[in-house]
Amino acid sequence: MMNIGTFKTNGGHTYESNYIEESTKDNRISLIFSLKEQVGALARVLRIFEERGVSLTHIESRPSRLNKDEYQFFINLDNKSIPALDEIVRCLRHDIGATVHELSRDKKKDAVPWFPRTIQDLDKFANQILSYGAELDADHPGFTDPEYRARRKVFADIAFNYKHGQPIPHVTYTEEEKKTWGTVFKELKTLYPTHACYEHNHVFPLLEEYCGYNENNIPQLEDISNFLQTCTGFRLRPVAGLLSSRDFLAGLAFRVFHSTQYIRHCSKPMYTPEPDICHELLGHAPLFADPAFAQFSQEIGLASLGAPDEYIEMLATVYWFTAEFGICKQGEKLKAYGAGLLSSFGELQYCLTDKPEFKQFEPEKTAKQKYPITEFQPIYFIADSFEDAKEKVRKFAATIPRPFSVRYNSYTQSIEVLDNVQQLKNLADCINSELSILCSALRKLE
Ligand SMILES: [Fe+2]
Repeated sequence: MMNIGTFKTNGGHTYESNYIEESTKDNRISLIFSLKEQVGALARVLRIFEERGVSLTHIESRPSRLNKDEYQFFINLDNKSIPALDEIVRCLRHDIGATVHELSRDKKKDAVPWFPRTIQDLDKFANQILSYGAELDADHPGFTDPEYRARRKVFADIAFNYKHGQPIPHVTYTEEEKKTWGTVFKELKTLYPTHACYEHNHVFPLLEEYCGYNENNIPQLEDISNFLQTCTGFRLRPVAGLLSSRDFLAGLAFRVFHSTQYIRHCSKPMYTPEPDICHELLGHAPLFADPAFAQFSQEIGLASLGAPDEYIEMLATVYWFTAEFGICKQGEKLKAYGAGLLSSFGELQYCLTDKPEFKQFEPEKTAKQKYPITEFQPIYFIADSFEDAKEKVRKFAATIPRPFSVRYNSYTQSIEVLDNVQQLKNLADCINSELSILCSALRKLE
């Protein structure tokens, strides 16, 4: 299926996805290129196609949103034109000086996988979950409980209908659900002062003060999302079930964390086979309020955009050994910062004993480490600091084969693909103006 949204609008938002796939269904290939606004520019382009015997089946144009003196063209060609395409793209780039946005003719070989370009694009895949929230495996503690299953469907439906920009619906939790939360909350809170990292302990009282964290109340995602936005710009988004690694990581690039809203089954308050609200709110949420950790998480997300499948797997493994099961060095002591640890009474105690093996966090090696998902981790990776971990991930990301670099524009909440000179000039201008603010502030402090 062709995947192009550039010239379509949806709900008032214009989507841009320059990385497009060949449409095999209707024997058509598509291409987007930008031209400087000059008399005769398009005629010269059309001649390139004509000289190679290629006829266009469709053409559209519009002013470029990126460069004010350029026009963007979207064209369709017949599939028979494939042999001439390399030469055409070369001429467009070198003879005409056009910016040609990527096109993929052989999806398996060299296509760049689609990725969200704006924060609204997250709506497109949020419901492509691997399992719907109400479908439980036979070994799930709630499998034979029809009431629990019905409840799970309520939560799944909230997430299923959610769109970016809407407030996350408040949920009235049952007494039984609150009791389960209370048990988990009380037990874990006794361990945090000694076992959790400094950042987690720093933020936790703020969540108690501003977001309704206490043993008698399950906090609302919307309140936490609003709080996190004031700290680091991170926000929560309800999710109905498990997303693919690619989609989940892409959310982090926009500082969006996909969070479950349901709670584990009451028969086993200290166990859950899947992420639930205790895991998200006690494990993940506090750290997203920390600027360095937020940046680290976003770095993994940005690295994942358009990355080949094997690299997505490696980044998901890096995420597993950091955001889920990471240990960090603070002073002379080891502390837990991974959400899988901070939300598990048993593993939080175990992870700081001498039973597991500890290795230094090195993304190239960590990314290839195998791990069990249903038992305590035999190996943990130690980060010196979130800044250090972020720098290492950044270096690792540079080794991912991608024909472009990306940058998140927080003003437009969109991803900028840095694949042409004008984009780089725009970026240089931004950095320049930030630098002059810095220089002026420094001078005032002298
Ligand atoms: Fe998690």
